[in-house]
Amino acid sequence: MELKVFENPAEVARAAAEHLVSLRPTSVALSGGSTPRVLYELLANAGEPFRDQIAWDQTHFFFTDERHVPPDDPDSNYRMVNEAMFSRIPVPKQNIHRVPAENQVAGDAAKEYETDLRKFFGAAIPAFDLILLGLGEDGHTASLFPHSPALNETQRLVVAPFVEKLNSYRITLTLPVLNNGKSVVFLVTGASKAEILNEIIKTKRNPDLYPAQAISPTNGAVSWLVDNAAARLCSTNNSSNAGAESDLLNKNP
Ligand code: 6PG
Repeated sequence: MELKVFENPAEVARAAAEHLVSLRPTSVALSGGSTPRVLYELLANAGEPFRDQIAWDQTHFFFTDERHVPPDDPDSNYRMVNEAMFSRIPVPKQNIHRVPAENQVAGDAAKEYETDLRKFFGAAIPAFDLILLGLGEDGHTASLFPHSPALNETQRLVVAPFVEKLNSYRITLTLPVLNNGKSVVFLVTGASKAEILNEIIKTKRNPDLYPAQAISPTNGAVSWLVDNAAARLCSTNNSSNAGAESDLLNKNP
């Protein structure tokens, strides 16, 4: 794995935007939560270089996971990305593949979304050009939570696990899809992530406890773009240099 440490969330977003532009991706899986919002706003910002460097009509956007709510719900990941990016860029409607989470039955929403994936990719397992992921304070990524049976899924592309601690269903891509990405990028910022990031990096692999450790693309690369606050406990070299970026390579045992 590759870990790059940046001064602040804005710099993390900038690095992710540069990476996205350099890939010229056809397919991107977007993560939800609050962390990537800075990136989505940056990509859509007409005063920044990225908006004009992306072939929006040739880029298809999917979601790594979704909450079991309608698209206009404040908790909806689609709503967040729509407000931050889709509504501000010239992306054709048919390029936006949201999870139909308004379906009353979460499992049916997962099936519908899987059908959309199979239709778009054709292949048995989608190979996204770029997958963006976040990290929860409990070690979850996408909506793969600790000890979830969803972590053992090998056939389905999308499942709808019930997450007890949230008392709700989530709809999420499964590990076969996430680990088939060509480039998988974690964005992790803020002091509240320092402890879990340190544990993920330093402790022996235990994906059942730390689902983010299960991300290890078969034919792709994984990188972690984090800010100083999140890297506070795990950085061992000059990551605190203002504006400097340090590579902490192969820290996983
Ligand atoms: C979601 C996610 C989830 C998220 C992490 C981190 O729908 O919430 O996709 O995996 O990336 O929970 O969330 P924050 O960025 O809000 O800390």
